[in-house]
Amino acid sequence: MIDVINVTKAYKSNINVVNDVSFTVSPGEMLGLLGPNGAGKTTLMQMVSTLLKPSSGRILISGLDTATDDLEIKKHMGFLTTEVKLDPDSTPNRLFDYFSRLYQIDKKTAAMRKTESFERFGILPFADKKISQLSTGMRQKISISISLIHNPEVVIFDEPTNGLDILSSHQVQSYLKFLRDTDHTVLLSTHIFSVAESLCDRIAIIIDGKIVATGRTDELIRMTDTSSFEDAFLKLYSMHHHEAAPAKE
Ligand SMILES: Nc1ncnc2c1ncn2[C@@H]1O[C@H](COP(=O)(O)OP(=O)(O)OP(=O)(O)O)[C@@H](O)[C@H]1O
Ligand SMILES: [Mg+2]
Repeated sequence: MIDVINVTKAYKSNINVVNDVSFTVSPGEMLGLLGPNGAGKTTLMQMVSTLLKPSSGRILISGLDTATDDLEIKKHMGFLTTEVKLDPDSTPNRLFDYFSRLYQIDKKTAAMRKTESFERFGILPFADKKISQLSTGMRQKISISISLIHNPEVVIFDEPTNGLDILSSHQVQSYLKFLRDTDHTVLLSTHIFSVAESLCDRIAIIIDGKIVATGRTDELIRMTDTSSFEDAFLKLYSMHHHEAAPAKE
């Protein structure tokens, strides 16, 4: 369960990058964040993942507060960010083993999870290759595999299908559906309308740090009196985006 309650993040230069955001995601549900570049998606997801502190507001993960219980929360959460880089000199095998030890997963379970996950994402043939020699898509799939190593019940994925070809994207989407259907709580961001549309139970549209609408795609279409999800998004954008005033000298 994710509870985001009146969360704001302010930077000195960029006032309220995330602006009074509230939402809930329940077990067995997948919520998608969709918004233009710079809308605040990554900032918001980093706060939900305890990596960044909100300026105000509260975030609860399965009832635990991100402000005080971050170590406990990390045990129950899988986080994928666009910012994290894998060590280029390591290999998928070595990275998986390293993180298994970090999460104190027993050897038998770790070996089982590795085989299952590497098979699922087609990593097996590349398991002993250097990360630096692997494609962007393969690295993304390895990051996903590692972020789920401890079988977390809350999954937060920032643009999980970024850089993936259609086959890999399909593998990742099927897996996210499987996680949702097995009672995990899933929060993801994406720029790809078809991914949001086919995958998410609800979509939150975020513009200039504010959630301006939340609903299923058909509800967003009806709400905006448009005929497609893309048109609904564009209409919400034109209604809610205000060009920043030029900075005073
Ligand atoms: N450390 C920081 N200091 C100041 N401003 C920041 C900082 N980090 C992010 N920002 C600003 O916060 C805003 C939101 O950025 P964020 O990366 O959260 O957007 P996003 O929705 O994830 O965008 P994208 O779709 O491009 O990934 C941007 O205007 C960005 O410049
Ligand atoms: Mg981002």
